[in-house]
Amino acid sequence: MSDAKKLYIKTYGCQMNVYDSERMAEMLGASGYQETSTPDDADMILLNTCHIREKAAEKIYSELGRFKGLKAENPDLKIGVAGCVAQAEGQEIIRRQPMVDLVVGPQSYHRLGELEARAGNGVKALDTDFPEEDKFDHLASRPKARRGPTAFLTVQEGCDKFCAFCVVPYTRGAEVSRTPSRLLDEAQGLVERGVREITLLGQNVNAYHGDGDTLAGLIGKLAQIDGLERIRYTTSHPNDMQDDLISAHAECDKLMPYLHLPVQSGSDKILKAMNRKHTGDEYLRLVEKIRAACPDLLLSGDFIVGFPGETDADFEQTMDLIRAVGYGQAYSFKYSPRPGTPAAEKSHVEDAVKVERLARLQDLLTSQQRAAQQAMVGREVSVLFEKTGRLDGQLIGKSQHLHAVHVVSPASNIGSVRRVRITDSQTNSLTGELIG
Ligand code: 5AD
Ligand code: SF4
Repeated sequence: MSDAKKLYIKTYGCQMNVYDSERMAEMLGASGYQETSTPDDADMILLNTCHIREKAAEKIYSELGRFKGLKAENPDLKIGVAGCVAQAEGQEIIRRQPMVDLVVGPQSYHRLGELEARAGNGVKALDTDFPEEDKFDHLASRPKARRGPTAFLTVQEGCDKFCAFCVVPYTRGAEVSRTPSRLLDEAQGLVERGVREITLLGQNVNAYHGDGDTLAGLIGKLAQIDGLERIRYTTSHPNDMQDDLISAHAECDKLMPYLHLPVQSGSDKILKAMNRKHTGDEYLRLVEKIRAACPDLLLSGDFIVGFPGETDADFEQTMDLIRAVGYGQAYSFKYSPRPGTPAAEKSHVEDAVKVERLARLQDLLTSQQRAAQQAMVGREVSVLFEKTGRLDGQLIGKSQHLHAVHVVSPASNIGSVRRVRITDSQTNSLTGELIG
């Protein structure tokens, strides 16, 4: 279709935004848009944004500034802001960057086609509703074209936990789970298009409760799809880690031995101030229980340093918890006050202190990640090959523990799971050789 309009989408933030961007591209596909990889000759630019920390949100305004020239050259160019900044800031975005034509929140992007048609030539279209209807019932049907071996699938959205630092309950709204029958249909469709691994997404994915099914129940049903070889899920809250999900890690071969289970802090005082509703010890006991069910599990986490009121002693308790757990992978952040959240009202830890704590914490996490990777050397793992590597004849895939693995292999192995012996560990990846 040579007369198709060109759509440039840039995605920030979490994996759910990656999924939403796919669905938005499909919505706009129905309005005659085809995706392009550069903003330069686009007819529409859409930024799918993240509001989790201040830096992420502010980046959007500088990014928009860069499109000023393009808009001057092509006044028909439509510029849209979607995602969590759109939800949180709404009209304010158009006030700060008047060249923006369209603002759409994460719960109303099924109306994108209509908004796009209305926007432009000075008309602004804004929709940041939390509508009654379920957007998934109104999205464009998914295309049949072949796609890569891995995919995200949103099963649950929103959060009712209200951690004191977090904007998600405000930007994504209350917890909602999609029905298992719809999800099974969507997963089946993905597998028919070549997908072999599905990562189930939710801001609080293990709180999933679609039609009375738990996440473990849903995983059990998905595991019956022929051709689907691997299932993952993220992000989980410790308080929703139910026994049936723990057992699934022992019993379901397709469920990968990897768990992202954020704790945020190791200090009970800070956990309480964060409204996490569990203690450090409870988290440690939970980890023990999960590891008893699945000894080979690789644990990942999120940490915040410099939350209001965090003393040196509190921070040391976080370091102790990290030492006690032993993470294979983790994300860590300086606390960033977010407007409208309870913690933003508290007095803040000095930035220099946050910087120093973050550096120490990241050193520890990096050494644990290295050790976890090093422990793989000599082991046999299974790798789902995803794409060609930079070196001739090399493919890149992911092990069951989500390690990136480089292997010399025929390209025909892309999309297949193969046995691989790990021979070496680099900074952020492993090298291996095919077995047999
Ligand atoms: N400041 C710093 N980090 C935050 N996160 C969420 N909100 C904030 C904030 N205000 C982190 C948490 C969460 C991850 C997605 O982002 O660690 O688990
Ligand atoms: Fe935010 Fe996660 Fe806490 Fe929900 S559980 S408020 S998404 S940090």
